Amino acid sequence: MSDVDQWLPGNWQTKVATQQPNYPDAAALAQATGALGGLPPLVTSFEILALKRLLSEAAEGKRFLLQGGDCAESFSECDSATISNRLKVLLQMSVVLIHGLKLPVVRLGRFAGQYAKPRSADLEERDGVTLPSYRGDIVNAPEFTAAARVPDPQRLLRGHAHSAMTINFVRALIDGGFADLHHPEYWELGWMQHSPLQDEYRRMVEAIGESVRFMETLAGEPLGSFSRVDFYTSHEALVLHYEAALTRQVPRQSGWFNLSTHFPWIGMRTAQLDGAHIEYCRGIRNPIGLKVGPSVTPDQLLPVIDALNPGNEPGRLTLIHRMGAAKIGSALLPLLNAVQREGRNVLWCADPMHGNTESTSNGFKTRRFENIRSELDQAFDIHAAAGTRLGGVHLELTGENVTECLGGARDLTEIDLGRAYKSTVDPRLNYEQSLELAMLIVRKRGPGR
Ligand code: PEP
Ligand code: CO
Repeated sequence: MSDVDQWLPGNWQTKVATQQPNYPDAAALAQATGALGGLPPLVTSFEILALKRLLSEAAEGKRFLLQGGDCAESFSECDSATISNRLKVLLQMSVVLIHGLKLPVVRLGRFAGQYAKPRSADLEERDGVTLPSYRGDIVNAPEFTAAARVPDPQRLLRGHAHSAMTINFVRALIDGGFADLHHPEYWELGWMQHSPLQDEYRRMVEAIGESVRFMETLAGEPLGSFSRVDFYTSHEALVLHYEAALTRQVPRQSGWFNLSTHFPWIGMRTAQLDGAHIEYCRGIRNPIGLKVGPSVTPDQLLPVIDALNPGNEPGRLTLIHRMGAAKIGSALLPLLNAVQREGRNVLWCADPMHGNTESTSNGFKTRRFENIRSELDQAFDIHAAAGTRLGGVHLELTGENVTECLGGARDLTEIDLGRAYKSTVDPRLNYEQSLELAMLIVRKRGPGR
């Protein structure tokens, strides 16, 4: 592998790049990536390096990482309500975690660029017609027509524009203050009455309210402003033409930064040691994530860690394990032991969503709240047994009242799924299920570990 000093953003093209769109018109692609290369970045190197420091502190147990958002954003849902509701549920979850874990929380949205999806098959067949799979709005459109499914390079520019609009609104909301977020009496908590843990939850919510009132009394004014809330963005670095076009050098910093997001991650399907995604990610200075599935062995994982983080730099690499409730019991421990034995600095984060996807008899892709919860519970226990630290969670959620995951306090059933199933890809926790999960994390992990 060549030296990072020799690295250039386009070098990935010398490697095998899986999960890439098959653009029919090379000239149109070159025109779009050229235009993208001239557009302003979405984030700054200062923010990126600040996040890296926060993640290194999370690895030391001084912070907890909450990474969450849609499986895939869509251009049509780049609207005020969707963005603000998603921000609201993430902020409310972070307040629950801060209060319960007694730790500052690193808030990392899965948004402002999460427009590309890896697919298990390149082609989709319906009623004898075969078309390219939908790969996310930055590539093609979900409708099952030949025209919609052709990868269109102009969508790379639209992806940048929609990411910019999203991050602009998020920054404005945070700067303007999300005042009622601090006040649990403004939260939508009707679901709690359906939970066997309602007394415990109610005490937690009351305690949060009391803490807020106490701090406001001390400060002599309402804690209305979230102006010092740090919020960072992340997305899967999948479409490498897009990522490379937004990879830049900046004044007074060495190396290259992906300025389309603070935290790009490598998906499970594109994590081959000799593949283009590792080649691309190894050259940028951002903190990066790596999804780790249940079939990965220590012998496979360690060389990937070293390729991505040859200097063993703290905060650089977050390993996001996504095993499934049934497999985590056997798959995780050998990886924890190997990484610990070899002294590699990583932040461990649990994604309890992607190993727990199933299809219902009535044809919905869903996840059971119980399996999500079980994988998280087991993850905390396995880390505790290994002497490693689970420093964060990675969730697919929305602030909307969708019905995509089964269970939770209201015990959504297969029949409920038909009511408000909106995802074009993976099923997400809804507002209530997300808050409930945050409370369950607090209940499981508690303060001071
Ligand atoms: C995802 O995070 O949406 C995803 C596809 O995850 P994974 O790569 O872990 O399957
Ligand atoms: Co997903």
